[in-house]
Amino acid sequence: MARAASMDVRPCTAVLGAEILGVDVAHDLDADTFAAVERAYDDFGVIFFRDQTVSPERQIAFSRRFGTVDCFPLAQYCLAEHPEILLISNVKEQDRNIGLADAGQTWHTDMSWSAVPPRGSALYAVEIPAKDGVALGATLFASAAAAYDALPEDMKRRIDGLKAVHSYQAKHAYRAKVSVSERDAMTNEQKNAHPDVVHPIVRTHPITGRKCLYVMTGECTGIVGMNDKEALPLLDELAAHVVEPAFQYKHVWRTGDLLMWDNCTVQHFAVRDYAWPMRRLMHRTQFAGSVPF
Ligand code: SIN
Repeated sequence: MARAASMDVRPCTAVLGAEILGVDVAHDLDADTFAAVERAYDDFGVIFFRDQTVSPERQIAFSRRFGTVDCFPLAQYCLAEHPEILLISNVKEQDRNIGLADAGQTWHTDMSWSAVPPRGSALYAVEIPAKDGVALGATLFASAAAAYDALPEDMKRRIDGLKAVHSYQAKHAYRAKVSVSERDAMTNEQKNAHPDVVHPIVRTHPITGRKCLYVMTGECTGIVGMNDKEALPLLDELAAHVVEPAFQYKHVWRTGDLLMWDNCTVQHFAVRDYAWPMRRLMHRTQFAGSVPF
């Protein structure tokens, strides 16, 4: 078990994100070090470690300390020998994408369309595109907790207790419409396996108790008990508020970064400012969460 003699947590912005220094994720962390890492994760919503060498086995083992590691439903984009690792990549082999090529190209939190969305995800940077020495393919994060805190009191009262409908089919269609790469069309089996779900618009973080706005453009299709004429503009207004620049942190990747985000506190967006044959390859794991309340 590795103990970090000098772990340091360096906040990135006033509202979210922290770099963790002095921790080598290639080694199993002792209980105290892991507890400090987990506290930073809960508090900052996004944490990252630079200059790591993380095998698929280590990434899975580290992720398991945060929760049961789930396999992503699109098995064709996962490592055959480690199906817990989803490849996020624009890399093509024999004219086929080896991974999910349009992942994250709209603001979202992972799998809000499921009844029990994952607690969070870990992304390990294997290959990062660059032009003239400048890294491309950054990821933007927005604090849904800071966004909630900043709402006017009358809006907080208006949305208190409301629930939104989250749709996998709507998300799939929206991604296909606005992103630069195609993913395979959904099969009927996939459609039937993922019916719409309902979650509170104001979601409470299960550990910190912070309130977070849990709505996304293109994925929330209505509000329970409200007509669409009223509901859809309200959803759009809230979703646009979450991703205002004041609530954002931009992560510029380096090869060897291991970054983790919290799907309750944070939404994210992958910037597609590079094109094949530039290569971006990330290994993603996700760990189980609890029913949103
Ligand atoms: C994701 O949304 O899971 C991927 C984000 C990224 O590739 O930057």
